[in-house]
Amino acid sequence: MNHFDIRDGEMHAEGVSVRELAERVGTPLYVYSSATFERHFQVFSQALWAQDALQSPKNEAPLIAYATKANSNLAVLQTLAEQGAGADTVSEGEIRKALTAGIPPERIVFSGVGKTDAEMAFALKTGIYQLNVESKPELERLSHVAASLGVVAPIVIRINPGVGAGGHAKITTGGAKDKFGVSAREAISLYGQAAADPNIAPMGIACHIGSQITDLAPMQAAFSKMKGWVQELRASGLSVERLDLGGGLGVPYFNMPEPPSPNDFAQMVALTVGNLGVRYAFEPGRLIAANAGILVSRVIHIHEREDSGQKFLVVDAAMNDLIRPAMYDAYHDIRPVTAVQTNETAIYDVVGPVCETGDTFTRGRDMPALKAGDLVAFMSAGAYGAVMGSEYNSRPLAPEVLVRDTNWAVVRPRPAYEEMMNREVLPEWLRPHR
Ligand code: LLP
Repeated sequence: MNHFDIRDGEMHAEGVSVRELAERVGTPLYVYSSATFERHFQVFSQALWAQDALQSPKNEAPLIAYATKANSNLAVLQTLAEQGAGADTVSEGEIRKALTAGIPPERIVFSGVGKTDAEMAFALKTGIYQLNVESKPELERLSHVAASLGVVAPIVIRINPGVGAGGHAKITTGGAKDKFGVSAREAISLYGQAAADPNIAPMGIACHIGSQITDLAPMQAAFSKMKGWVQELRASGLSVERLDLGGGLGVPYFNMPEPPSPNDFAQMVALTVGNLGVRYAFEPGRLIAANAGILVSRVIHIHEREDSGQKFLVVDAAMNDLIRPAMYDAYHDIRPVTAVQTNETAIYDVVGPVCETGDTFTRGRDMPALKAGDLVAFMSAGAYGAVMGSEYNSRPLAPEVLVRDTNWAVVRPRPAYEEMMNREVLPEWLRPHR
């Protein structure tokens, strides 16, 4: 469920007219709904928190570490922090943003295959919950960094369970040939190495098998393997106190069957790996953010090719604003912001102004007939939207607006052209002529 509905003939984000936002802030722009972020966080967390089998021996509820990569706007992070969210981070920048938004260090997880020494040192000094170690060289570097700081690094080892899943090959992470984590065999030997290392405290194991997963079966297969490895580690005398099961649960993009509900997911987890005597952690990103945001764009004109009759709906948003269709052939529902008066429809290729054929949001889509100046909303754009934006073609980053009830605020303004240019610096051999 989200809070973008048509009311009084036009789309509203909670209590705010999207048309009005477009007029006040300009297009293209991202619009986010606070209530939707909060609802998604609560629905997911409550489903897991309600499972007795997922309480830790010390009675701690599962840690819900929101994957900040999905949408790391500070206002969004703070909205989630106020709901009790932790953060799954993958860079020093994300850790800093999470801290700035008020997420306590003891709820921050640090993942990623290429953490630098400086990033590890920052994480250790901050005192985060755990580092998810993904390889032997990483473990060894972390040991040195921890020793030089005189601290013990709390870690889990990320196992690649050899079960890949997800909406596209580029976002499948758990396949045996993907770059993430180590094999179970290697994890077990690394765990022993970590236990013998005075600078490292191995707390448990982690996995994350992919993103936009719409079927519980591969997750269940991976999790039940994880259970076997917890038992195997314990059988060899090692202590295992944590189990991090990653993110990945899919969301409706409106072109496919509904993904499993958070409740079905929680029940599956409880049945598959419940009562293991560990503290559980989850890292949902898309599930929290995708349907909490839209990208609003204005139709520049409709170009109908004389030869083929093909109709290009040319909009002012482009692949630099929302790269998912170009990068993953992703489907985003495209809806008129103002209710269309007629029942007339047309078949459009929806394209942006960037000079690449890849700058195509969709081909041959049957949509309500539109005209120049109309507004459209790319739905489900709250996750992996603005965060993946760039200034390609010297197009300013699209601004972000956060709505709460009938209030709204620009939470990242569109940079002025001057601001964009002032970021670049001329070397002294080029004489300034401005
Ligand atoms: N944990 C780890 C270790 C991850 O690598 C990811 C996502 C997540 C959690 C969150 O997964 P989620 O719950 O959002 O599925 N840019 C792509 C998605 C990349 C996902 C990368 N890892 C897209 O637009 O579809």
